[in-house]
Amino acid sequence: MTVLAPTSPATDDALGTSAARTRSAVLERRIRENPGRFRVLTGDRPTGRLHLGHYFGTLHNRVRLQDLGVELFVIIADYQVLTDRDVADDLTRHVEELVLDHLAIGVDPERSTVFTHSAVPALNQLLLPFLSLVSVAELNRNPTVKDEIAHSRQSAVSGLMFTYPVHQAADILFCKANLVPVGQDQLPHLEITRTVARRFNDRYGAVFPEPDALLSDAPLLLGTDGSKMSKSRGNAIALAADADETARLIKGAKTDSERHVSYDPTGRPEVASLLLLAALCQGRTPEEVAADIGSAGAAALKRTVTESVNEYLAPIRSRRAEYARDRAYLRRVLREGNERARSVADGTLAEVRTAMNSHY
Ligand code: TRP
Repeated sequence: MTVLAPTSPATDDALGTSAARTRSAVLERRIRENPGRFRVLTGDRPTGRLHLGHYFGTLHNRVRLQDLGVELFVIIADYQVLTDRDVADDLTRHVEELVLDHLAIGVDPERSTVFTHSAVPALNQLLLPFLSLVSVAELNRNPTVKDEIAHSRQSAVSGLMFTYPVHQAADILFCKANLVPVGQDQLPHLEITRTVARRFNDRYGAVFPEPDALLSDAPLLLGTDGSKMSKSRGNAIALAADADETARLIKGAKTDSERHVSYDPTGRPEVASLLLLAALCQGRTPEEVAADIGSAGAAALKRTVTESVNEYLAPIRSRRAEYARDRAYLRRVLREGNERARSVADGTLAEVRTAMNSHY
């Protein structure tokens, strides 16, 4: 996810985070009771290899939902990435990296659909009627887009940047997904999606579900410099990094000068994030990991983190390397995912045409 986290503390409520959290707990119960009732759509912009922040924040959850029996669609948002123009050059490679990362973590193309925007014309066509359902003022209010514009290195705001949340509504609604696992920065987009679905149904008849956000309770991992883990900040550990690169990155991670290692996310955020990372990999609590290390200091902490990460990622990395050698297979996964997404999108567009009385 390239979207920046909301910066002001007041935005937490403006985004409706606490309501979404309560709702997510209810949804988790329903998913367990009846996974077959849910269709999930989620995805990423193809900006490069995914990292541990993505993994523990969202990727892990995708596989969990798939394995519970929920139908999973993963969009590789290759049109949306045009809002960050400078990464668009290496698009084919970035798209393949995303497919590889998903296969490596256990997304199963027999059960789940991985596809790209650009290969699904009927999805993109939904953007036009959808744009008619939202006002410019509503688009202008979107805090995530505002934030991206503020941090954008581009000289002018493109029409795509301004409208991409409506395109994202098409991503979600083309397959009538009713569940969208996202981070909180994406909540405003989901609100637009729900508005579009509701207004379409009111105006033309019931076609779309109003999808729910599923907020993960995964804690935020910091990068090796103590700020949010992000590829563009050079502080991220990629899933695909090898054991030596991982060791080097963790060795260079920021800590503090106190020798006794304790878990204190507010007072010692960098140490806490390293403990959290080791804990997530070991399936234990950060307090337990801290107690193990005690007064052995930052070097011992880093050794533990490096070992835990490398051990945890070893099977993922070896699967990734295997798939990377079979480019033909990779292309086939994408081709078949795109075909499936196209057939779903064609069906929905036909319904939309009927509802809108434009079936000629
Ligand atoms: N906007 C998301 C991001 O930047 C990517 C995305 C595109 C997405 N379409 C989506 C996420 C639909 C969830 C649902 O990370």
